[in-house]
Amino acid sequence: MKFQTCDPHLIPLKLLLEADPSLEHIEGYRSQCWAMVGVREQEPIAACLILPKHRHTAEIMNLAVQEDYRRQGIGSRLLRYSLSLLKKKGIRKVALGTGSFGYQLGFYHRLGFRVQECWRNHFIDHYREPIYEGGIQHKDMLRLALDLSLWEGGDSDPAQQPEGI
Ligand SMILES: CC(C)(COP(=O)(O)OP(=O)(O)OC[C@H]1O[C@@H](n2cnc3c(N)ncnc32)[C@H](O)[C@@H]1OP(=O)(O)O)[C@@H](O)C(=O)NCCC(=O)NCCS
Repeated sequence: MKFQTCDPHLIPLKLLLEADPSLEHIEGYRSQCWAMVGVREQEPIAACLILPKHRHTAEIMNLAVQEDYRRQGIGSRLLRYSLSLLKKKGIRKVALGTGSFGYQLGFYHRLGFRVQECWRNHFIDHYREPIYEGGIQHKDMLRLALDLSLWEGGDSDPAQQPEGI
């Protein structure tokens, strides 16, 4: 497993759609994003798209690991790799939007993200099709953020860590 930056257009759409079911949204942000991938046997099996917002802030627009590679630490390693690159670029605050329930909340909190706001009805108002997870409809978006100036996970380079797989 190797972590590296890449052209966002080289990431398979199928992978990006795992994190954001709207092709329209993906096409809207993809070309303006920095892209980081986890590559195995020359295939990207994990991807992270990050949109620079202002001089010191950025937003994670998409983070996905191919289904058969999940729960092996790859998403955490890719995110830590991406955050360490952002820190080197001078980014101080990283934001993201996610559903108000689901395992993703635990995933981001473990990496230090905290809840900032709740955008009620976001998934109803901004997506053509309803989004369900475990039979429950996603309605509200939680806005999470990480203060990178306090983040210590960037001291080591996760791209160089011993390989789990
Ligand atoms: C979210 C995602 C990127 C996480 O990637 P991953 O490689 O599976 O995550 P990791 O293996 O690094 O998980 C780290 C921790 O997060 C939590 N976690 C991750 N997936 C979980 C799950 N399905 N259920 C419960 N906890 C989970 C656990 O605490 C896990 O640690 P543990 O395995 O030691 O218990 C991946 O599940 C994914 O691509 N999901 C679909 C797309 C998506 O929802 N993207 C986020 C949009 S906001």
